[in-house]
Amino acid sequence: MKRCILAILACGLSLVCSLALKANGAGPPARTEDLSSVQGLDCGGEPCDAVTRGARAFFDRRLRGLGANGRACADCHMLTDHFQLSPASVEARFRILQFRRRWDPDADDPLFRPIDADDFHTNGENASNFSNLRQNGLVRIELPLPPNIRLVDPATNLASSEAVADVWRAVPTVNDVKLTGPDGVNPWPRGPNQTGGYQLDGRVGTLQEQALGAFVNHAQVQNTPPDELLNDLAAFQRVLFTNHRVRELADAVSAGTPLPDPDPPLNELEQQGKVVFQRACAHCHGGAGQSTVQAPIVRFHDINTQCPRPVDTVTPARWNFAPCAPRLERNARIYEIRLANGTSTRRTSSDPGRALLTGFVGGPPPTDDWNKFDAPGLRGIRNTAPYFHNNSAPTLEAVVDHYIEFFKRVQFTATILVAPPVASTDGVHFDRIPRPEERPALLAYLRKL
Ligand code: HEC
Ligand code: HEC
Repeated sequence: MKRCILAILACGLSLVCSLALKANGAGPPARTEDLSSVQGLDCGGEPCDAVTRGARAFFDRRLRGLGANGRACADCHMLTDHFQLSPASVEARFRILQFRRRWDPDADDPLFRPIDADDFHTNGENASNFSNLRQNGLVRIELPLPPNIRLVDPATNLASSEAVADVWRAVPTVNDVKLTGPDGVNPWPRGPNQTGGYQLDGRVGTLQEQALGAFVNHAQVQNTPPDELLNDLAAFQRVLFTNHRVRELADAVSAGTPLPDPDPPLNELEQQGKVVFQRACAHCHGGAGQSTVQAPIVRFHDINTQCPRPVDTVTPARWNFAPCAPRLERNARIYEIRLANGTSTRRTSSDPGRALLTGFVGGPPPTDDWNKFDAPGLRGIRNTAPYFHNNSAPTLEAVVDHYIEFFKRVQFTATILVAPPVASTDGVHFDRIPRPEERPALLAYLRKL
């Protein structure tokens, strides 16, 4: 019964939920609104009334009293896209909107607001070029530049006076967020959120703070959202899981009971793939949320997913990343960084990650913040292509091939005599890399997550 409420709430179909309650004979609230009267009922550890209100708020485009721009959370975290946003859905929505506008010039889809257009900085509210959103499924994230980092103006090749950097980021799923927030272990030397957090760079510590940021930056609210609304959204998202096995895992984490393995039954090939995953991936994608990097491996990583991809300076190349598509490559910018010793250096990246939060660049690798991201969970990954913070890997095959090159690069750029734990299980052999004959098994397992 509780499971049923949860499963249906998780689908956001709260009206059907009230019917389900009725069918189960739980004192029938006839209408959705009446669900809020089911006080004290436990919905995955959250108060059911808060979960219900949160579900409604997540899908609400009107957000009465907030002066928002018509966007609901679900406009980007789409129900039909497993609570993330695929480039294919964006393009379909864009085409439908153009089609509707032939008859109705006022037809609207709040996904397409000027704030997420490529030309927002030049054209403001008249901006209309949605290439990054349509071609890449990427949303504009504006981050203030730290005092020691400046953007280089491509026209003059001089450091510009721009105070903010735009980076273009994929919309992650909100499934499993109960498990993927800060985890309190293996701290990074600098904040924000030294033990992980929300957002691809881990810069947000709670789901409430996250919802507030989304209201301000994506829904452009004019008035402050009440705390209860933020709490309700957090409660709703904490009951969203990839599947019931992950939910049971989360329940066990909360209860402090032994943790069940959330994998479904695996055939022999998938089982072999799991062994490869444990060796090649789980040291970074570890813990219940698959987002706890395991010490001694450090918390945040540059896994070479920015555009342009690094290219080897040696011929023949010792490692070879598939180059980024031009539609992604164009998001690269040159940054000028003032280092601690007073000199300046320039680096190119489509998204410097945590360096934009701290300005900490040029420290001894691997401890600086340049291009570093938080490790995300991977449950349900078969349903959420394309991959990485910038949607730059179209398929899981491309992901695995990327990592094979990543491990080769770690090996060939290692300057010390010991093999770093990120690529080695024993500090001697570079043995974490998936071998060519292991690729099909690893892919089979990734499709079961
Ligand atoms: C315009 C599209 C858009 C809208 C609308 C939107 N989001 Fe997001 N959301 C994103 C993007 C993009 C990110 C990743 C941003 C980053 O890493 O800097 C994100 C990240 C998140 C995360 C972090 C997930 C994780 O695993 O770290 C949560 C939680 C979230 N959003 C919840 C919400 C809620 C709640 C709302 C409504 C109040 C909302 N979002 C509205 C685009 C959107
Ligand atoms: C050195 C730590 C590290 C290792 C090892 C590692 N990952 Fe990752 N992984 C990360 C980080 C950090 C990100 C986020 C970077 C990004 O999105 O660009 C990530 C992102 C991903 C994503 C994208 C998720 C999404 O929703 O787009 C997938 C898929 C993935 N990893 C799979 C794997 C697999 C498979 C392996 C093993 C072959 C692996 N990872 C090994 C750190 C690691």
